[in-house]
Amino acid sequence: MEIIDGKKISAQVKQEIADEVARMTAEGKKVPHLAAVLVGNDPASETYVASKVKACQAVGIKSSEFRYGSDISEEQLLEVIDRLNDDADVDGFIVQLPLPKHISEEKVLNRISPDKDVDGFHPCNVGRMVLGLPTFLPATPAGIVELIARYGIETEGKHCVVVGRSNIVGTPMAVLMSRKAKHANCTVTMCHSRTKNLKEITLQADILIVAIGVPNFIKEDMVREGAVVIDVGIHRVPSETAKSGWKLIGDVDYDHVAPKCSYITPVPGGVGPMTIVSLLKNTLLACQKRG
Ligand code: GUN
Repeated sequence: MEIIDGKKISAQVKQEIADEVARMTAEGKKVPHLAAVLVGNDPASETYVASKVKACQAVGIKSSEFRYGSDISEEQLLEVIDRLNDDADVDGFIVQLPLPKHISEEKVLNRISPDKDVDGFHPCNVGRMVLGLPTFLPATPAGIVELIARYGIETEGKHCVVVGRSNIVGTPMAVLMSRKAKHANCTVTMCHSRTKNLKEITLQADILIVAIGVPNFIKEDMVREGAVVIDVGIHRVPSETAKSGWKLIGDVDYDHVAPKCSYITPVPGGVGPMTIVSLLKNTLLACQKRG
């Protein structure tokens, strides 16, 4: 069993991005610029945005944060998006989700210019991904493909089972793994909360990608011997042994599942660090595309 080290791979990719940014700026080109819009004070969103800003700094990408109270109106937020769409210095931007209930996520995501949509959430970019055209790939699925590629994990003709069907992870993941492309070409089955014979299907997985959002959901008896297991879940749970009183766990019962796997991602330190790296890559790409 080999543990997939997302921290190590993300550090490598960050170094590659930093080198590329340094090369571009040495040639007198513009410094890539990512803007992040944060509405309200959801603690998880605060942490994610802070990590994105920190990662930008580490690789030489300029970043800016736009923070608003949860009482901002939908109309005001759409105006913020219009301004960022028109701001020539901003190469790409994200609106951190979730948004307060009175704001339509759909309207907000539709308003972002597809050329600046470095999250890859705009319907145009989702459509381009499904068609296999060049686009901004959503960060978490792209990070997972990068891990699979850098570990040299064989995917061609394999059965990949994706558990979860969110717009951010499960759905794009299933699309990417079934593409006629390198590090893909899988036969894909997508499972979700209404799947009746889940265990029967997960037991067939050569590659099992879990993004269901339930702590320790995948148990030892649901995984085939020698499977590759990718855990997208991240949950903070109480811990008697940790000094802080809590620890992070995933959607996979790691301690019992890991011994059966050929490869497995830990939580933390697996998929998580790769997500931000994909966002940085998309920002660099957005900047290069604008010339
Ligand atoms: N909320 C959870 N994940 C994401 C993400 O990848 N991008 C944005 N904008 N919001 C999120």
